[in-house]
Amino acid sequence: MSKRHHTDETPPLTQTPAWKALQAHHQAVRGLHLRELFADDPTRGERFAAQACGFYLDYSKNRITTETIQLLIQLASACHLRERIEAMFTGQKINVTEQRAVLHTALRAPEGERILVDGKDVVPEVHAMLARMADFTRQVQGGQWRGHTGLPIRNIVNIGIGGSDLGPVMAYEALRHYSQRKLNLRFISNVDATDFAEATRGCRPEETLFIVCSKTFKTLETLTNARTARDWILREMGGERAISRHFVAVSTNAEGVAAFGIDARHMFGLWDWDGGRYSMDSAIGLSTMLAIGPEHFHAMLGGFRAMDQHFRSAPFEYNLPVLMGLLSIWYNNFFDAQTAAVLPYDQYLKRFPAYLQQLTMESNGKHVTLDGAEVDYQTGPVYWGEPGTNGQHSFYQLIHQGTRLIPCDFIGFCQPLNPMGRHHDLLMANLFAQTEALAFGKTRQEVLAEGTPAWLAPQRMFEGNRPTNTLLAQRLTPEALGSLVALYEHSVFTQGAIWQIDSFDQWGVELGKTLAERTIPELESVQEPALEHDSSTNALIRRYRQYRRQ
Ligand code: F6P
Repeated sequence: MSKRHHTDETPPLTQTPAWKALQAHHQAVRGLHLRELFADDPTRGERFAAQACGFYLDYSKNRITTETIQLLIQLASACHLRERIEAMFTGQKINVTEQRAVLHTALRAPEGERILVDGKDVVPEVHAMLARMADFTRQVQGGQWRGHTGLPIRNIVNIGIGGSDLGPVMAYEALRHYSQRKLNLRFISNVDATDFAEATRGCRPEETLFIVCSKTFKTLETLTNARTARDWILREMGGERAISRHFVAVSTNAEGVAAFGIDARHMFGLWDWDGGRYSMDSAIGLSTMLAIGPEHFHAMLGGFRAMDQHFRSAPFEYNLPVLMGLLSIWYNNFFDAQTAAVLPYDQYLKRFPAYLQQLTMESNGKHVTLDGAEVDYQTGPVYWGEPGTNGQHSFYQLIHQGTRLIPCDFIGFCQPLNPMGRHHDLLMANLFAQTEALAFGKTRQEVLAEGTPAWLAPQRMFEGNRPTNTLLAQRLTPEALGSLVALYEHSVFTQGAIWQIDSFDQWGVELGKTLAERTIPELESVQEPALEHDSSTNALIRRYRQYRRQ
């Protein structure tokens, strides 16, 4: 493994005094139990809490002391987190491997703010695009935008993958309560034709509008699905002219969009300073705006913006994204936790864990530092999760009694969007109960005192000391969703800054794409192809070809 050559001023991360201090501190506190920490300090529950942008973060049920937070903040300072934040917000090219600025924060900057990229203020362009999106949305929602045969649009089908799908799907599901129910939103991402077949089932082409969402307009899955959609429209309605009424595109690639046959006037642009997994609040969110309308979309942007301002200006000890990012470092790098669970207690957030998987793992799944040196510490953990309470009846067993340490983020809202009987109190009681059970567990004495026979006591006791964050907000509104997403975006940024990695590239997706391109003709050719893969891949391809033709 190549190692970075460090000068005396920049020792490798694991050699910095701040890192070493945390290692020593970890040795001292890792045996502490949350039972003791809470017993020793009756105010702990309020002391280890912070709030911003309508979110209350209770991080008291973490295996930390006041000193832990101080040391983590010292690490953040030693890694120049404050300067890195400023570099991002001011448009410096912090995505070094692609030589790009990272400015998703400009997507929600207020009109009048100036953010320069290569000397050009990008904020007016952002607002011009938002205005175009709003105009288009009003035409579709109001029925003025008509299909080729003159019928109004009833079905919106977003075709995209990765950041061009997960954000739109997640936001659509999350904000469904605010959506105009007369439009029927569907999403196609997978190159598996089943996705297309099922998403378009029951849709009349005359009433269907496709949004082809692809930053590059080169992605295999999206272009394949878009061509299938094009064929479907042409087959049903004939005439190329139908395309212009049934397709719009969101992309940076005007040539690709034109070559596909989509009218330039129906293309919504993006910028190279906005990465796919950070783009749900750009034109990639056109489906979101169509669903919830421009006003709610702007409220969501306001939520993003509020969290941006908080991240940029709040002292680290009260800074929600910084605290969450540092706690993630604490478990990942000092307790050697390999995964982290995200557990929203809100059915509308059912796709939030999937969305976070791309945000966190495509950003921080890196093995080299900004200057290309191999890291000698773990980077991004595996994120996973499901909404509560469903997960409780599935995988929580392992979190409670398994052998691994899995830090969890619980997310809940105080007011239900669909008040019905006791449902909401039952839901939230479960959230609170889970964090309590995970932290405090149940001792052998408690188990025996309940009359459990001694032989069964090991199975029935809970060690506890399982760390959790709880994020609580009043209500799941568009604004709250914007703040929540920005909170995780900036927590990811905080972690990437400490690990000194490029959180904004994704070279790791390339090899599989290239090998797939090479394999496609081998599967499709009529002649038996000469296969030059390894013996396993060769055998799999031969078997596939054999079975496919039977
Ligand atoms: O292959 C990964 C990726 O490049 C993601 O980063 C991106 O969100 C997704 O593919 C889709 O890319 P595009 O919007 O260019 O189609």
